Amino acid sequence: MSPIIRYFTVASLLYLVLGTGLGLVMALYPQSIGYLLLAHVHFLLLGFIAMMIYSVGYHVLPRFSGFNLYSEFLITVQFYLTNIGLIGMALTWIILKDAASGFEPVLILGLFASMEFIGICIFVFNNIMTLSGKGGKMMP
Ligand code: HEM
Ligand code: HEM
Repeated sequence: MSPIIRYFTVASLLYLVLGTGLGLVMALYPQSIGYLLLAHVHFLLLGFIAMMIYSVGYHVLPRFSGFNLYSEFLITVQFYLTNIGLIGMALTWIILKDAASGFEPVLILGLFASMEFIGICIFVFNNIMTLSGKGGKMMP
C-alpha cells in the first residue's frame, strides 16, 4: 500500500477517536450539543467513514479492475484538501457558529466546504480514470 493511501487509513482512525470523543462529551454535557453536533457528525461521516473508503477504494479498485491507479499525485492533493476542508469546517462550526444568536460564518465555512467538495470530486475523477484504464494495464 502506498504511503499516501496509508495516511488516509491513519487519518480515518484518528477521526473515529475524535468524532466519538466529541459524542462522549455531548452525552456527558448536553449543553455542548449546539456547538459540537455538526463537528461530531462530519468527523465521523466525512472523516472516519469516507477516508476509510478512500484508502480501501484506492488500494482495492485497481486490483479489482486490473488497471494501474491513474494518479498518486491527485491522491496527495485530495488528502490535503479533504483534511484541511474537514478540520476547517469543524473548527468553524465549533468556534464560530453561535447556536444562540444563529450567527453563520458563511464565507469561511464556504471556503472549507469547497475544499472538501473539490477533494471529493478528485476521488471520483481519479477512480473513473483508473477504472477506464487511463493509468495503463497492471502487470500480471
Ligand atoms: C462513542 C460513540 C458515540 C457517542 C457517545 C455519540 C453521541 C451522540 C450524541 C450525544 C448526539 C446528539 C444527540 C442529540 O441531538 O440529542 C449524536 C448525534 C449524532 N451522531 Fe453520534 N455518537 C457516537 C457515535 C456516532 C457514530 C459512530 C456515528 C456515525 C458513524 C454517529 C453519528 C451521529 C449523527 C449523524 C448524529 C446526528 C443525528 C441528527 O441529525 O440529529 N455517532 N451522537
Ligand atoms: C462537502 C461535504 C459536506 C458539506 C460541505 C456539508 C455541510 C453541511 C452543512 C452546512 C450542514 C447544516 C449545518 C447547520 O445546520 O447549520 C450539514 C448538516 C448535516 N450533514 Fe453535512 N456536509 C457535507 C457532507 C456530509 C456527508 C457526506 C454526510 C453523511 C454521510 C453529511 C451528514 C450531515 C448530517 C447528518 C447533517 C445534519 C446534522 C444535524 O443537524 O443533526 N454531510 N452538513
